Amino acid sequence: MATTGSPNAEIRPGPPLWLLAELTYRCPLQCPYCSNPVDFADQGQELDTGQWLDVFAQARAMGAAQLGLSGGEPLTRPDLIELVSGARELGYYSNLITSGMGLNRDKVRALADAGLDHIQISFQDAEAAGNQLMAGSRKAFQHKLEMARAVKAHDFPMVLNIVIHRHNIDRIGDIIQLCLDLEADYVELATCQYYGWAHLNRQGLMPSRAQLQQAEHVVADYRRRLEDAANPCQLIFVVPDYYEERPKPCMNGWGSMFLTITPDGTALPCHSARQLPIDFPNVRDHTIETIWHHSPGFNHFRGDAWMPEPCRSCDEKHEDFGGCRCQAYMLTGDAANADPVCAKSPHHHTIVAAREQAGTPLDQVPPLTYRNERNARLIYRG
Ligand code: FES
Repeated sequence: MATTGSPNAEIRPGPPLWLLAELTYRCPLQCPYCSNPVDFADQGQELDTGQWLDVFAQARAMGAAQLGLSGGEPLTRPDLIELVSGARELGYYSNLITSGMGLNRDKVRALADAGLDHIQISFQDAEAAGNQLMAGSRKAFQHKLEMARAVKAHDFPMVLNIVIHRHNIDRIGDIIQLCLDLEADYVELATCQYYGWAHLNRQGLMPSRAQLQQAEHVVADYRRRLEDAANPCQLIFVVPDYYEERPKPCMNGWGSMFLTITPDGTALPCHSARQLPIDFPNVRDHTIETIWHHSPGFNHFRGDAWMPEPCRSCDEKHEDFGGCRCQAYMLTGDAANADPVCAKSPHHHTIVAAREQAGTPLDQVPPLTYRNERNARLIYRG
């Protein structure tokens, strides 16, 4: 693969501060809002232990400080402890992003001993039925509760993540209460962002504006109550950009600080970029230094020379970078377009239409397509 010739090759970014290692696409759960690619079943062979450790070392030498270990479910990797231990030796602040499935008390202890800094466990809902509806597992809820307690018992910062969508948003108070009962330090109430499987299932997941406003009241009320608590839990409520009039500065700008490595070693500026019609390099073929500074894929949307109107002459372009390239591609067919979330975009009507559809009764929208290998193969092959 060629690694030179980008129109933005003269732009020299800072180091990739945040390395996301997607160790595997394997996962025992089937969440229909997973941001993994819909064709994950047909991806190449996973990097082995030595290849991952080499990636960690190269990125660290360039200045990477934060390491996210995610998937799929990273606990399905039998070498996870070895990878955590290697990350610790290199001096990373490491974060395991997990469903909790595959975790047990011995593994929590082993991860702590290996030097892991942080475990983030995801829940689907405040109760077993809602959890099962999304995760596709009857046993998951109870197991997650036990593992959240085990994580707390080992003095990890307790970080819980719950993806919010139209099926659970009306129970957001119960979800917060569950997190407080588990003595969470941070709670991410992350309203679904429509990438990967979530984009496929958008109609069945997107809450209405009325649902969202009610949820914001509930979160604000909890925040007020927590102000005087001895150890206040931080509630982070990520609202969906589909209800905004200006786009998010996705990844803080393309190729500016985030580096994602997929299970097969493909290097991406964000977790969703592989769907774009851009040739991305692989760590099996190139060094991280070459990939970060010289590959056409990473230079493609650096700077602002690539921007068409209305972004090119917009006085906000250095704040939002034109929004999200992946969203522009999914909604307009051209990743260089302004993110349609922006009210100045000629494609903003696609966002307005999605908002209007969001209140459609569930019996009038397509059923959810669950993230599993069978569906992945069916979708990929059409
Ligand atoms: Fe890829 Fe926003 S998710 S640029």
